[in-house]
Amino acid sequence: MVKITVVGVGPGSADYISPLAMSCIERADVLVGGRRHLEALARPEQETYPLTADLSGLPAYLRRQAGRRVVVLATGDPGLYGILTFLRQHFTAEQLQVIPGVSAVQLAFARLAMPWQDALICSVHGRDINDAVLDQLKQARKAAVLTGPACPPRQLARALTHIMPRATVYLCCDLSLPGERVMMLTVGELAQLGEEITSNCVMVIINE
Ligand SMILES: C[S@@+](CC[C@H](N)C(=O)[O-])C[C@H]1O[C@@H](n2cnc3c(N)ncnc32)[C@H](O)[C@@H]1O
Repeated sequence: MVKITVVGVGPGSADYISPLAMSCIERADVLVGGRRHLEALARPEQETYPLTADLSGLPAYLRRQAGRRVVVLATGDPGLYGILTFLRQHFTAEQLQVIPGVSAVQLAFARLAMPWQDALICSVHGRDINDAVLDQLKQARKAAVLTGPACPPRQLARALTHIMPRATVYLCCDLSLPGERVMMLTVGELAQLGEEITSNCVMVIINE
């Protein structure tokens, strides 16, 4: 039976990779992950499998690795809008060992020194804004939204201007990376921004 270790590598900086995650990565025979992660973490003797948007070949590849130590690298925590959703469609819980990572959402709330057990967590990464997401956001007093190329921050703010123009947005971009930025503005101000922000962002929205 194939056994796959899915490792959360945090939001960007290696400082957020846990010692347990690092030791799994170092002992792996095969590393699967995005190019950025593989470039940063793979050693020359390790076999690598770069992930792309097309994951169709991945399950068969992983099954062929039975008997080898296989590690799949995931941004942040694998279970929060990560590759674990896809892997659980193809493998049982017994076939997967998950090593948690620090999520970008966790780090965003940490940067704001703000508790988050009462926050709605949702994602528009890789998907269009739909009414269901807008309805959820409308009802939430505190929310964290993972934005992405399909729906970057200004676009989401424009969809929210009629619902909550004065809500406060903390735009937490490229967390833990050299260009990290945290900006505070209103939904209305973000909707009017001169240019779209294309970096990795978590939008924390406070609507009180
Ligand atoms: C596919 S989701 C993966 C989330 C990941 N599993 C986690 O737990 O953070 C990718 C989104 O996470 C957010 N993200 C990832 N890294 C980030 C960073 N360093 N700073 C801010 N947001 C980040 C962005 O919203 C990005 O579009």
